[in-house]
Amino acid sequence: MRITIIGTGYVGLTTGVCFAELGHIVTCLDIDKEKINKLQKGECPLFEPGLDELLKKNSMAARLSFSDSYEEAVPNADVLFFCIDTPSGEYGRSNLTNLLAAAKTSARFIQNGVCLVNKSTAPVGTVQKIEETVRNIAPDKDFDVASNPEFLAEGKAVNNFLAPYRIVIGTHTKRAEGALKNVYAPLTEKGVPLISTSIPSAELIKYAANAFLAMKVSFINEIADFCELVGADITNVSTGMGLDPRIGDKFLHPGLGFGGSCFGKDVRALVHRGEEEGYEFKMIKALIEVNSVRYLIALTKLKKHLGSLQGKKITVLGLAYKAGTDDVRDAQSLRIVFELLDLGAEVHAYDPYAMQRFQNIFQRADEVHYASSASQALEGADAALILTEWEEFKNLNLQNIKERMGKSALIVDGRNMFDRTTVEDLGFTYEGVGR
Ligand code: UGA
Repeated sequence: MRITIIGTGYVGLTTGVCFAELGHIVTCLDIDKEKINKLQKGECPLFEPGLDELLKKNSMAARLSFSDSYEEAVPNADVLFFCIDTPSGEYGRSNLTNLLAAAKTSARFIQNGVCLVNKSTAPVGTVQKIEETVRNIAPDKDFDVASNPEFLAEGKAVNNFLAPYRIVIGTHTKRAEGALKNVYAPLTEKGVPLISTSIPSAELIKYAANAFLAMKVSFINEIADFCELVGADITNVSTGMGLDPRIGDKFLHPGLGFGGSCFGKDVRALVHRGEEEGYEFKMIKALIEVNSVRYLIALTKLKKHLGSLQGKKITVLGLAYKAGTDDVRDAQSLRIVFELLDLGAEVHAYDPYAMQRFQNIFQRADEVHYASSASQALEGADAALILTEWEEFKNLNLQNIKERMGKSALIVDGRNMFDRTTVEDLGFTYEGVGR
């Protein structure tokens, strides 16, 4: 099929590249000319494992092209996907300005019979708004609308796309349902389940799924804190819980709070959408509150051993909101480094991929010392604070690190990467989460 993807962020680009990999003829459209120039040269603008190779492969096979012109990219599309950012606006409301602007511009160029699909994460009712927007501009055009939420986790997006747990489509015409079933046929033929629902149900599935995952993380974080009070070990507790298939073993890893561009934004948007209907999401509000103060634990643990942090050299290992990505949006590192600077600490930082993006968005970036390796960053440090579970931190030569670090040799392991006994035997003071 001929598919046009509007927006080349990590969702749009992954979606476009993977649809081409499934055999469709895909055009990816973005108003950012510089980005499109790069993509046309085969350069991948973001760090997403596996994406670069598939981008080159499918561009070479002439199944994938890039354009900055609606006039060029929209008229031939059988199916058009909106993959546009929907940032958090006032009171957590989803800001649909960019999405509806894209719908408006597209409306001028669509052909009869096209299916307009929203893949951007946007509240229940958004597809209806897209339909109204397009209908206003192109009242005589015969088109369908649909919702097809994405479930791509950063760092695993290609794999999540090509081997998904499920595909969700929300439509209100047989023609749109048929078009989307054709788009996904290469995956459903291999046994991937496809759930076909109404448009509001599809829109809500996305929010309910993210809110549930965020709740699981906040839940295990609360249990982890209680473990510390009663001498239990969260690793054993979550293993014991997760073996029950009704609970499942995923998303039970405790830490200093979830981050990233999705969970926080989506749960706030859901609460706001509830309020618009006069409905209060009590559990979701609670998880937001639990997560909002979670990062403070890092500071409490540092102060417990070092007292005042004034003038102390604290090395932050990991700035990305999780391993496998260079994304730092809503990362706990932003809050924690800010607080550390406020408390007068000398902050050193290292991340294998996310340092540049951290410096781009962190307002006090100039006050942080950046190192080119973890061991360099740890030279003379009073404490190592692990914020991202990068594999390379696991492989650090701890014996060597112990010799390089200051007397206190404190490790605050915000991701429970190390085994307490091993680390303590080497002479470190160790603080994990929930054990
Ligand atoms: C999340 C969902 O997992 C995707 O399914 C969804 O498509 C995506 O949001 C989205 O809405 O676009 P993502 O934000 O990339 O994906 O990352 P996750 O792997 O879900 O992690 C989110 C946060 O929770 C990270 O800060 C991570 O460290 C934290 N987390 C996750 C934990 O603290 N513990 C866990 O056990 C799991």
